[in-house]
Amino acid sequence: MEEDRILSPQMENSAEERLENSLRPKLLDEYIGQDKVKQNMKIYIEAAKARQEALDHVLLYGPPGLGKTTLSNIIANEMNSNIKITSGPAIEKPGDLAALLTNLSEFDVLFIDEIHRLSKSVEEILYPALEDYTLDIIIGKGPSSRSIRLDLPKFTLIGATTKAGSLTTPLRDRFGIIHRLELYSVEDLTTIVKRSSRILEVEIEETAAKEIARRSRGTPRIANRLLKRVRDYATVLGNGSINLKIAKHALNQLEIDELGLDEIDRKLLEVMIVQYNGRPVGIESLAVSVGEEIDTIEDVYEPYLIQIGFIARTLRGRKVLPPAYKHLGYNLPEENTFSGQISI
Ligand code: ADE
Repeated sequence: MEEDRILSPQMENSAEERLENSLRPKLLDEYIGQDKVKQNMKIYIEAAKARQEALDHVLLYGPPGLGKTTLSNIIANEMNSNIKITSGPAIEKPGDLAALLTNLSEFDVLFIDEIHRLSKSVEEILYPALEDYTLDIIIGKGPSSRSIRLDLPKFTLIGATTKAGSLTTPLRDRFGIIHRLELYSVEDLTTIVKRSSRILEVEIEETAAKEIARRSRGTPRIANRLLKRVRDYATVLGNGSINLKIAKHALNQLEIDELGLDEIDRKLLEVMIVQYNGRPVGIESLAVSVGEEIDTIEDVYEPYLIQIGFIARTLRGRKVLPPAYKHLGYNLPEENTFSGQISI
């Protein structure tokens, strides 16, 4: 079917994906962290159910790997509804979106990942669909063309994006519920690692769970990925259970440092320290220097480096901060360099 191309496959293709899915919580009460979002969503879901209405449209934004898709599945589950999962770039033409919308049932959830990447013509179809559950279709071409209006089932759109700033105002304004997902605390990540270990049936010491959590850059997806790799080391080098020694060894082998920084993080910081001597750097120059996309730096690397106080965004560009020098073993530059001296 035409529509299958647009929807992401619901099948679990590989053992890895099955494993990944088994780690995902299915209910709000199983979802760890993001307490504010959880508390609010609980109320909105209960209210919608009590009034037998569709849940208002939801926009979730924040860095990747924090559980936007997981949360959307949970919301659909808690509403006793079906979910259809797609993404902004997969919906190429207005007709693609029309096909998706007309195939929904009452109260279904339509999840659009990377919603900031919808094309303008597709986005325009979405406005009346969100506003009053109608679809305006133009039939034919030229003078004999006419527009017909179709009623759609009352559905809930959940949009996810790493770039809330890239959303157009008319689209953003049509979401009744907007939540930003935050990077997770080490405590919450420790709980997630222990929960995942139980599901994977691997024993783990509290200190080892915390070690993995500390090096996961506030991100459950990374925590679960590291847990699986550490488990491999425990299987081969130990007796299968994870203790602190095995965890540290495995994480060091993976070149994830004490704070969870990887090679690219370190390269970014080193460019700012050595090449730019601590002066503010434009994101474009940084991207060229480390050979990564601007978007990847902004969405994946920067949020955590800002969170731990290693870099700051200033009007003149990104600036590396003293804790980063200390962590990488560099001396701070002279005072006057920090105040903007030009070096030649
Ligand atoms: N696995 C991944 N993210 C999770 C979360 N927020 N809560 C529980 N388990 C998770």
